Amino acid sequence: MHKISIVGAGYVGLCTAVCFANRGYKTTISDIREESVKLIQRGASPFYEPHLNGLLKKAIKSGNLRAILDREGAVLDSEITFITVGTPSTLDGSVNLHFVKNSAREIGGALRKKDGYHLVVVKSTVPPGTTKHVVKSILEKNSGKKAGKDFGLCMNPEFLREGSAIHDTLKPDRVVVGEHDERSGETLEDFYKDFYNGRVPILRMNPASAEMVKYASNALLATKISFINSIANICERVPNLDVTQVAKAVGMDHRVNPLFLEAGVGFGGSCFPKDVKALVSLSRNLGYRPSLLESVLEVNEGQPKRMVELARQELGSLKGKKVAILGLSFKPNTDDMREAPSIRIIILLLREGASICAYDPIATENAKSIFDGKIDFAPSSIECLKNADCCMVVTEWSEFKTLKPSIFLKHMKRPIMIDGRRIYNPSEFSRELKYIAIGLGQEQCQEKNSHKGDQA
Ligand code: UGA
Repeated sequence: MHKISIVGAGYVGLCTAVCFANRGYKTTISDIREESVKLIQRGASPFYEPHLNGLLKKAIKSGNLRAILDREGAVLDSEITFITVGTPSTLDGSVNLHFVKNSAREIGGALRKKDGYHLVVVKSTVPPGTTKHVVKSILEKNSGKKAGKDFGLCMNPEFLREGSAIHDTLKPDRVVVGEHDERSGETLEDFYKDFYNGRVPILRMNPASAEMVKYASNALLATKISFINSIANICERVPNLDVTQVAKAVGMDHRVNPLFLEAGVGFGGSCFPKDVKALVSLSRNLGYRPSLLESVLEVNEGQPKRMVELARQELGSLKGKKVAILGLSFKPNTDDMREAPSIRIIILLLREGASICAYDPIATENAKSIFDGKIDFAPSSIECLKNADCCMVVTEWSEFKTLKPSIFLKHMKRPIMIDGRRIYNPSEFSRELKYIAIGLGQEQCQEKNSHKGDQA
């Protein structure tokens, strides 16, 4: 069984490390953030991810996982090294490769001291050409060795989603192996065949294609969301139209599939906005204007504005109005606030003079550092709703789905609901309060009012 080292203890690195270690591989994870390393050593995850803490404790207890600061030591004590460091956006949308380059330098330094074959695998999301033209040359320069001869090199994109990272690591739809040379590809394929007991399709290709698979996958998923949000925006302007019914029927065509067709306040997170921007920037630099992808971003930026427009439509001026925000994280089951649509919605509402009270089951601490005293945070949905002039559902946490219209009626000053994630049944809600939603033609609500029992 191979010994593994992982450089970078973020979502991808830690979830991957924990899964490898619990399958019996001796795994060492290293990170430059001392605080993260200390937490992991104690069996505590530095971030929230369902099922991660239990599996992390188990992995540490078994002795199969250790966390260290010393990257060189991690590499020397392993046969395969995965690079899972972050690749943030620069101001122009292109990718900042600083952490990838630093990791490659340190891994190269370690390889100089190491005898025997070692495989380096780039798992971070990097633009096509990076593994071959940037990582390879840094590794060769710092190790004094040759890729393909003295050490192996692969690009292996990850497709895990926050909130279901463990499931996605253990049961991916496919594994993509971008190989610098045949031996590298063979070694990584053998490793994954063993890890997945041969049950997951493995696609081998060159590193640039593997790098592009990741961008193309995220860009297509983001495109599906902006597509359905465009349809939602049309639906809102036509009486008797409901985007959820349209999306359901469109998604039943197996050529389309129903996933990522949920209209709402738009996509956020550390991946889609960054990766689509990076692809746009890369494409422009290559001399092709990717107008489809530019529109994907434009539609996405419009969705938070639409929420505020809907509030204004109902309340007139928002000055002095109290808006209750249900949900802050960029999606449920995570405390991640990166590029969360809630941030843009709240900034726009504050600009209009509204006062905000927000509730999120777990992202409140992270949100506090963003809003820095400018908004109030409630300890529960009910506290959040008290005396509000309108309520916006921004993240579809399951605990919000069980709230009945009577709760809103009881606690709000004006029972106006703006459903930004389409979690409520329009006929049930519009019977008792003013129900407005992304992708719902408003006259339809009234019509549904007179057709009791009509389901969304
Ligand atoms: C995404 C991809 O789904 C992963 O495959 C990929 O590995 C990851 O990025 C990455 O590049 O590392 P993630 O950012 O965790 O994963 O979140 P998603 O579940 O994809 O959701 C992204 C955003 O789209 C969220 O804000 C979500 O609310 C929004 N969304 C999703 C919609 O608005 N509508 C939908 O129908 C689906």
